[in-house]
Amino acid sequence: MVTTTLKTTRSEEIFAAAQKLMPGGVNSPVRAFKSVEGSPIVFDRVKGAYIWDVDGNQYIDYIGTWGPAICGHANPEVLAALKAALEKGTSFGAPCYLENVLAEMVIDAVPSVEMVRFVNSGTEACMAVLRLMRAFTGRDKVIKFEGCYHGHADMFLVKAGSGVATLGLPDSPGVPKSTTANTLNAPYNDLEAVKQLFAENPGEICGVILEPVVGNAGFIAPDAGFLEGLRLITQEAGALLVFDEVMTGFRIAYGGAQAKFGVTPDLTTMGKVIGGGLPVGAYGGRREIMQMVAPAGPMYQAGTLSGNPLAMTAGIKTLELLQRPGTYEQLDRITKKLADGMLQVAQETGHAACGGQISAMFGFFFTAGPVHNYDDAKTADTAKFGRFHRGMLEQGIYLAPSQFEAGFTSLAHTDEDVERTLAAARTVMAGL
Ligand SMILES: Cc1ncc(COP(=O)(O)O)c(C=O)c1O
Repeated sequence: MVTTTLKTTRSEEIFAAAQKLMPGGVNSPVRAFKSVEGSPIVFDRVKGAYIWDVDGNQYIDYIGTWGPAICGHANPEVLAALKAALEKGTSFGAPCYLENVLAEMVIDAVPSVEMVRFVNSGTEACMAVLRLMRAFTGRDKVIKFEGCYHGHADMFLVKAGSGVATLGLPDSPGVPKSTTANTLNAPYNDLEAVKQLFAENPGEICGVILEPVVGNAGFIAPDAGFLEGLRLITQEAGALLVFDEVMTGFRIAYGGAQAKFGVTPDLTTMGKVIGGGLPVGAYGGRREIMQMVAPAGPMYQAGTLSGNPLAMTAGIKTLELLQRPGTYEQLDRITKKLADGMLQVAQETGHAACGGQISAMFGFFFTAGPVHNYDDAKTADTAKFGRFHRGMLEQGIYLAPSQFEAGFTSLAHTDEDVERTLAAARTVMAGL
């Protein structure tokens, strides 16, 4: 057990009050410390790789607001662009040139995307893409993978990842059975299971949606040939392949996991990084499919704030920064140093652990592994992770408060930050 030296009086006061005002005291369940020790830290400000809480403690942040902060928090160039945009107003509810600019950037970057529709969150993007998959194919059933998270829409809340996994709520009340009757689940990295589902449901499956690199069951990489296999199986079945790149888009590579692995899906969902810290989601893909979306076609989907000028501005500036030479090499180098270092520390201190990293996304599990799917991830020692998480907080390191979440680095993380993190991990693991 790690001794508590962190002064969090103000955080605790605010969180106690918050619990009377909002369910569980938070506006998104993953922020609650339900599966780790202690109560959530309440934050006051962010800058670069750091966050400061309301008691004045500073932490090195490896959540990066769950992915968007890839250029570092409150990046000065993003802030300057936002301040200029703010002067022109916060919302138009009408076409705006900035939408064209960001759309062109996304289309140029992401191999599968010939047309794009902006929405306000990853959840919205995934909801809409499933409607589109069904509209285009005329089929209702969809295959997803256990432990993958595609937002909180009813159809996806079956054996989902992220907060659903952390809180152990595989099937949420309030989701009618009829809504999920068409959602088929397969274990991640299991092509045979996918083939079997197609064989059992001939001509009924609209497609397969997945996180091409999983972040919501902890970090799980696709096995060699898995993405290629899905591409082949879906093509043969006349079904669509959809990469949910809400987390991996512009993070695994500028063109997302599809660029990194050279497998082009039919449709892609995005979010997080493309909003540069403001609420944005997007879905896009082949022109003939996207032409189904209203008002070009009959599939309805709309949004009051979609294409919001501030969100477009933050997204455009963030992507411009990411286009600079050496960006992804730096992200990969710093993240590899962190991920390899963590495993090394675990080994030196006698803890079974496995994990990995691709570009600026990483994770590790307290289990010998290997972890290929959600069932493997569940063998990890979550109680030990809970103590580790608290210990790292005490040392000024802010990790995602769940074993079933990936971690994120940014361009603002330095070698010194990583070295401090590994030194902290050594101290904490030695005491576990
Ligand atoms: C892969 C993936 N899809 C969808 C979502 C939902 O996005 P949002 O939280 O913006 O609704 C997330 C959120 O973490 C995600 O990681």
